[in-house]
Amino acid sequence: MIKKIVCDSYEDACRYAADIYAGQLKAKPDSVLGLATGSTPIGLYNELISRSRAGLIDFSRARTFNLDEYYPIKATHPQSYRAFMEEHLFSKVKFADTRIMNGETADPHAECAGYDAQIEAAGGFDLLLLGIGVNGHIAFIEPAASYPLGSYLVDLAEDTIVANSRFFSEDETQPVIALSMGLSPIFMAKRILMFVSGANKADIIKKLFDGYLHTDLPASFLHLHPDVTIVLDKAASGE
Ligand code: F6R
Repeated sequence: MIKKIVCDSYEDACRYAADIYAGQLKAKPDSVLGLATGSTPIGLYNELISRSRAGLIDFSRARTFNLDEYYPIKATHPQSYRAFMEEHLFSKVKFADTRIMNGETADPHAECAGYDAQIEAAGGFDLLLLGIGVNGHIAFIEPAASYPLGSYLVDLAEDTIVANSRFFSEDETQPVIALSMGLSPIFMAKRILMFVSGANKADIIKKLFDGYLHTDLPASFLHLHPDVTIVLDKAASGE
C-alpha cells in the first residue's frame, strides 16, 4: 500500500521527509538505510545535514547502501555516484559505514551478488529512499518485459540517458550502463520512502496512481509492498 503525502513546496517535502529520518533514527540509531542520488534528494540531504549539525539527528551508528552506480566508472570520477554522495552527504554527516557498488569492478555480476549478500547480512533495510525516473524506474530498474530479482548490470533506457544528460558537459562521456539494486533487496526493506519533486514527474505519478499494476512501470510494483510512503511536492502531484 502506498501512502501519499502531498506537500505545498519542495522545501516542505524535504522537511516532511527529514522528520521521517528523525523518527527512524530515534527509534533505531543503528538503522540500515538505502540512499538515492539524483537532483531530488539534494534538498533532503541538506535538511539532514542541518539537523545533524544541530544535534537533532545522529547518523553515527547508521549504515547506508546506495541504490546504484554507473558502470564502468572510477569511484574518484566526479560523475560517479560515490563522488555525488561524498559531495552531498557523506563528507558532511558521519555514518558508521557507507556502501555503494564498485563501478570499477572487473566482475560486475559478482559485485551485484556480493552487494545483495551484504544487504542481507545487514538484516535488510530499515528505511529505503527511492526516487522515480520519468519513465517509472526505481533505482535503475528500467521498464522491461521481465526483471532480475537480484541486483544487476542494466542498460540504461533512452529516457534515463536523456534525463541524466543534464549532469554531463559536452566533453564528458555519459555512461549508458549501470549497476542497479534489484527488486529483492528493495522489497526486503521494512519501510520505503519515495521522494518525488517537480512538474516533469507529474505524468508518471498520475500513471502510478491509476489503480493498475503496470508491468512496464517498475515503481507500480511498490503497491505490493506493505509500507511505502511517497512524499511529493504539489508540482509532481499534478494537483
Ligand atoms: C538514483 C536513482 C534513480 C533516481 C531517479 C530520479 O540513485 O536510483 O532512480 O532516483 O532517476 O532522479 P532525479 O531525482 O534526478 O529526478
